[in-house]
Amino acid sequence: MSATKQSIHDHGAGHSDPVDRSGPPLVDMRDISIAFGGIHAVDGATIDLYPGEVVAVLGHNGAGKSTLIKILSGAYKRDSGEIHVRGEPANIANPRDAKAYGIETIYQTLALADNVDAAANLFLGREILTPWGTLDDGAMEAEARKVMGRLNPNFQRFKEPVKALSGGQRQSVAIARAILFNAKILIMDEPTAALGPQETAQVGELIKELKKDGIGIFLISHDIHDVFDLADRVVVMKNGQIVGGARTEDVTKDEVLGMIILGKCPPGATPGPGAMRE
Ligand SMILES: Nc1ncnc2c1ncn2[C@@H]1O[C@H](COP(=O)(O)OP(=O)(O)O)[C@@H](O)[C@H]1O
Ligand SMILES: [Mg+2]
Repeated sequence: MSATKQSIHDHGAGHSDPVDRSGPPLVDMRDISIAFGGIHAVDGATIDLYPGEVVAVLGHNGAGKSTLIKILSGAYKRDSGEIHVRGEPANIANPRDAKAYGIETIYQTLALADNVDAAANLFLGREILTPWGTLDDGAMEAEARKVMGRLNPNFQRFKEPVKALSGGQRQSVAIARAILFNAKILIMDEPTAALGPQETAQVGELIKELKKDGIGIFLISHDIHDVFDLADRVVVMKNGQIVGGARTEDVTKDEVLGMIILGKCPPGATPGPGAMRE
């Protein structure tokens, strides 16, 4: 069924396991460190992400998750370490650099313009113009319906200010915006923290659609229950260090909780520098 469905970017999609390991990873962050004053917020962290893959980055509050991904999104400058994008060293010194590599972040606070509608939000800052230089509202709405129709087929509220939308609908607008900006690497920091169960399920559906398009997603969460079923792999952080990483099929939720709480690495996981030694 998915093979006949139109892809967001009109390139073929639709095999059953969308994770593509045939080439280099989309992102490869190696031995990344950053300190604030005396605090090693991120300490020698290595993490990668393949096309069509969802990697959940888990850990308690203060573990260093947001700081690590803010280095990828260009919000923070690392003290040391390397970032490769699609196998090439990437020079990411600010958010604009990151966007040029197709890296987009969906923040918990969803940076949307509340008083304008979904279509206007999708094209904020890069509006489609008519040959006469006026706003081409028709073209923007048509494009908005196309992208949203794929991400969230039930969405019909194109003409309402986004402040009237539910949390899940706002989330799909923010994601559609990133997709239209050509995101290939999506960072979602605590995406379901403010959502109810039904909307959380809706975000899960969105993520499945993005995977089919070969988009890689870092899903940041302090709550394993929010992300375990969506993730292909989990990576656990503690005190700025990587405790370990595992394919979700190789570990149980309880084992991952043991990684988060105790720093204990189960047999199905590959330990990192932060793993507890026994
Ligand atoms: N801009 C900052 N200045 C000082 N300390 C920071 C800053 N950002 C994060 N930290 C510290 O870095 C550590 C990791 O924080 P963070 O990455 O936000 O953790 P998480 O997202 O896993 O909850 C914490 O001790 C936090 O207080
Ligand atoms: Mg955080």
